[in-house]
Amino acid sequence: MCGIVGYIGAREAQPILLAGLKRLEYRGYDSSGIALILPHKKNIGIRKAPGKISVLEKLVKSKPLCGMAGIAHTRWATHGAPTQANAHPHHDCAGQIAVVHNGIIENHEALKNQLIKEGHIFRSQTDTEVIVHLIEKFYKNIPLEKAVALALKLLVGSFAIGVISVNEPNKLVGARLGSPLIVGVGKGENFLASDVPAVLGFTKEIVFLDENEIVVLEKDHFKISSLGGKAIFKAATHINWDVDQAEKSGFAHFMLKEINEQPGILKNLINSRLEKKTGKIFFQEQNIPESKLKDIKNIFIVACGTAYHAGMVAKYVLESVCHVPAQIDVSSEFRYRDLLIGPETLVIAISQSGETADTLAGIREAKRHGCTVISICNVLGSTLTRESDGIIYIHAGPEIGVASTKAYTAQLTALYLFAFYLARIKGVLSGARINKLLTELCKVPEYQAQILKQQKPIAALARKHSHLGSFLYLGRNVNYPSALEGALKLKEISYIPAEGYAAGEMKHGPIALIDEYRAVVCITPSSKVYEKMVSNIQEIRSRKGKIIAIATAGDREIKELTREVIYIPKIEEIFSPLLVVLPLQLMAYHIAVKRGCDVDQPRNLAKSVTVE
Ligand code: G6P
Repeated sequence: MCGIVGYIGAREAQPILLAGLKRLEYRGYDSSGIALILPHKKNIGIRKAPGKISVLEKLVKSKPLCGMAGIAHTRWATHGAPTQANAHPHHDCAGQIAVVHNGIIENHEALKNQLIKEGHIFRSQTDTEVIVHLIEKFYKNIPLEKAVALALKLLVGSFAIGVISVNEPNKLVGARLGSPLIVGVGKGENFLASDVPAVLGFTKEIVFLDENEIVVLEKDHFKISSLGGKAIFKAATHINWDVDQAEKSGFAHFMLKEINEQPGILKNLINSRLEKKTGKIFFQEQNIPESKLKDIKNIFIVACGTAYHAGMVAKYVLESVCHVPAQIDVSSEFRYRDLLIGPETLVIAISQSGETADTLAGIREAKRHGCTVISICNVLGSTLTRESDGIIYIHAGPEIGVASTKAYTAQLTALYLFAFYLARIKGVLSGARINKLLTELCKVPEYQAQILKQQKPIAALARKHSHLGSFLYLGRNVNYPSALEGALKLKEISYIPAEGYAAGEMKHGPIALIDEYRAVVCITPSSKVYEKMVSNIQEIRSRKGKIIAIATAGDREIKELTREVIYIPKIEEIFSPLLVVLPLQLMAYHIAVKRGCDVDQPRNLAKSVTVE
């Protein structure tokens, strides 16, 4: 979704801001823009353009802006089409103040009408523009940050903003309420951004702003205060990710790189959490006392998108391993339900970014009900991690491809480990059984590496089927969520209609779709439901459906039913989702590439959905 970058220092701001914007491209956007204070002209220069950042780059190449303080933005359209007029930054009537904004201003209509009555002239259809006119209204003989604070008090909704004014050219103001914003602390220069990757090329010292905080950046220092004006001291966090981790390392796309990173990430995750000799599991940053976890009577999982599918697998695992009833809901439903949860409920929130608006609203609702909240998250210091009682970081490194891959398997691995950890605390599974399962989990990275060695035949298979009009994915038990995830991957990046179904439901609808123009991906590893899946395959075969099966190495029976089989190493059923998803990710990737789609930045999608 939208991205913000701001710079103030002693260097030319334009290339720094553009470099920052490029690091945010992966979040999804449809226009971009930049505004600089032009000290010699006592003016603000703005350039903006619909489309990719490369269009903006061309524009600033022909009409450069020179200055050492500025703000920049990538916009993902909500209010108003992705046009030049609607792109950020927006300026006030006098062209003296410029603003970039992430989020949504819910009461913008009323504010706009009032401001128009007062004589303000609007140039866009955005909700954002009211912010800059409000600041203009209040910015009379007071510092910029005070005018910003007065304006923000009138806004309903969620936002992170960056503001500059020609009247105070040595200042850059930022504020947050509901959308992430960080400060990058440099030497003789400071940065403002919606995400850490935007500034990683310049500094690794990051200060995370909290809700209702406002920051004033100058070249040599920064000052944080509450919207009410109370000073707040915050230390910087050192971020370990480096720029290289956010580069493609020779892969054609970030998605392919991230698919291939999975064995390494899982290995590190397991090694850092599990003492192999004793089978002891460590969750250093998981602050919930064991006594509290012991008393948990039920579990509710909340998540969106791919993280929701990880949660669906976890539901099966937690119930089977910990003997605790577990429910799951997408965050956008959970937050508006009549929830029957309370202090004995453990809410597990799963989110790669830790900034998904619905998931954050979900955990706030859970906390209102007195639940304990633990979050499974990738992004250090994200809002979700700061609002949860306990955190389990998945340490997957920056995930840039919009379609989540490595975060999914890392989330699953963290959830398996947590399930065994909880099972031990609750004393519901024998130590020997837990250790046996943990030994099996330790084999997953090697098994994943074996699957990745078959990338060429999987790619060939994918290309062969890339012309088909729709795909159906079927799975059962722990691989029902795998079917949903396989379908999601395909539709996200190739735009082919794809549906995931519990195979047992096939006769209740999807069977009507089956013919020779559609592919049916059958997730059929050896399991207690294997025979049931084979029956489904027989039924599809009799209706001439094109079957692609994912099966366990050595399964000859499946070869009799279809020629298209992708084999995965033999593993305990409970862990099979960690293996079957690799061919699903690779198939989606190669089909999308064959169809000429923009794999890393699929149309209309955003990496981090920070609005409802
Ligand atoms: C968006 C992304 C998905 C992601 C989902 C949840 O839809 O495109 O890849 O799974 O948001 O995001 P989260 O950061 O909460 O895991």
